[in-house]
Amino acid sequence: MKSKVKILEEKISEAMLGGGVKRIESQHKKGKLTARERIHFLLDEGSFEEIGMLVTHRSTDFGMEKEIYLGDGVVTGFGRVNGRLVYVFAQDFTVFGGSLSETHAQKIVRVMDLAMQNGAPIIGLNDSGGARIQEGVVSLGGYADIFYRNVMASGVIPQLSAIMGPCAGGAVYSPAMTDFIMMVEGSSYMFVTGPNVVKTVTHEEVTSEELGGAMTHATKSGVTHFTHVNEMECILHIRKMLSYMPQNCEEEAPMLSYEASNEKRPKLNNIVPDHPNQPYDIRDVINEVIDTESFLEVHKDFAENIVVGFARLAGRSIGVVANQPVHLAGVLDINSSTKAARFVRFCDCFNIPLLVFEDVPGFLPGTDQEWNAIITNGAKLLYAFSEATVPRITVITRKAYGGAYDVMNSKHIGADMNYAWPGAEIAVMGAKGAAEIIFKKEISEASDKEKALKEKEDEYNTLFANPYKAAERGYIDEVILPEDTRRKLISSFKMLENKATKLPRKKHGNIPL
Ligand code: HXC
Repeated sequence: MKSKVKILEEKISEAMLGGGVKRIESQHKKGKLTARERIHFLLDEGSFEEIGMLVTHRSTDFGMEKEIYLGDGVVTGFGRVNGRLVYVFAQDFTVFGGSLSETHAQKIVRVMDLAMQNGAPIIGLNDSGGARIQEGVVSLGGYADIFYRNVMASGVIPQLSAIMGPCAGGAVYSPAMTDFIMMVEGSSYMFVTGPNVVKTVTHEEVTSEELGGAMTHATKSGVTHFTHVNEMECILHIRKMLSYMPQNCEEEAPMLSYEASNEKRPKLNNIVPDHPNQPYDIRDVINEVIDTESFLEVHKDFAENIVVGFARLAGRSIGVVANQPVHLAGVLDINSSTKAARFVRFCDCFNIPLLVFEDVPGFLPGTDQEWNAIITNGAKLLYAFSEATVPRITVITRKAYGGAYDVMNSKHIGADMNYAWPGAEIAVMGAKGAAEIIFKKEISEASDKEKALKEKEDEYNTLFANPYKAAERGYIDEVILPEDTRRKLISSFKMLENKATKLPRKKHGNIPL
């Protein structure tokens, strides 16, 4: 028996070394952790249970039968994050550059299946040179097996992807179909075709970092939702993210304990400037309303004219969507619409109530926006809100103009409670534009055109640049003092906690993609 135990111990030791000491050292020299170290820091101490440690590849081409590494380049298993079950796979760059073989894929598929069957999140730590080149089509098949499961799991369990090294070729599509991507600055990149192919095809000279580094995807493409200065920050962030989410679509997110106190927030009375065109940071409003330091902003560096993120209100996990007057006056455009739509859909999938702060002058005009389909993309946000059945509350802090009024979680598309602050302006368009159209004749015939325009502007403002027309119709449930916002929201979300709305029976809707 002793000798048999020894064999097992030797195998475990061998598996622990992945591609060997030299390659581990090389990984460390690049400032990267190994797959096992990443899992160690991600999961609660001692909670990791490995699956498939002794799996090896079956390839015999190119002398591969002589290069066997236990585990075959990916560490898979389950464990706990803050006591809650999660499934995890971490690609091991020290084994064939973390490339995906048939058996490597099967190991990932196995934990994905278990995660689905048992209703717990799956976390992928990606660090891979893509398809195992020596294996050819079986590797491509392995990717497709994973992609298919990403789609099946979408909306059933949360799927999180950390990119901690290269992620090239078709490999990028698995993370792309998960709910959130985080990248590590300086050591991770994602692209479908790398700089060499780009140079051959388009003659563009570009580095990996410029083409698909963390900041590129955070600011230009929006592919990544988060960037982190190092791997530890990224790993701790994953743990934090999970605390806002339920385990699966049948459950609620964890509720933190909360002691009610005086919920008045007088600071809110002074955040919105008197002048309607003066900007203010909507994050000041968000942070004043929600539980202290509970805001976890998503997609911070992309489409900054809208702010989205998780927060807690009286201990309850909520999703916040807010126009940001500091950027482009908070206008809705293509990127902000798609950013917010995706976030709204995530929250709706996982029973996270939505809170909307609205200060929007309308949709961004221009050929760039029109030709790149602001119509279709703006419709995504409209669709996402309309379809969401979670509790939904809107607070109009200032402007709610035009189609953007409808889109930003208006009563008409299913919001449960709509509040406005006394300075809210709810109208088809700004007073100047409106006066120029409806009083065109009077103004052109007036002796003093400027004065005539000003008078008509004032007339329009008095009539419409307030929340009361909307309140008279019941489109606004209550006009509230800013300082009472937190109290009202806590009470309304509590009132809505048993909300049960069903969508009409259908196979699935057809969101304008
Ligand atoms: C097999 C691979 C590999 C791969 C790297 N290695 N990529 N082995 N298949 N795809 C091995 C290397 O041979 C090397 O082995 C070790 O991993 C480390 O690689 P290095 O090149 O030394 O490391 P580095 O300089 O850091 O460069 C990493 C890299 C580069 C940028 C990832 O290796 C690279 O460009 N690899 C190929 C990327 C690629 O084209 N993949 C296929 C994409 S197509 P040793 O023994 O020296 O340690 C694809 C299709 C999927 O993925 C489609 C799905 C729909």
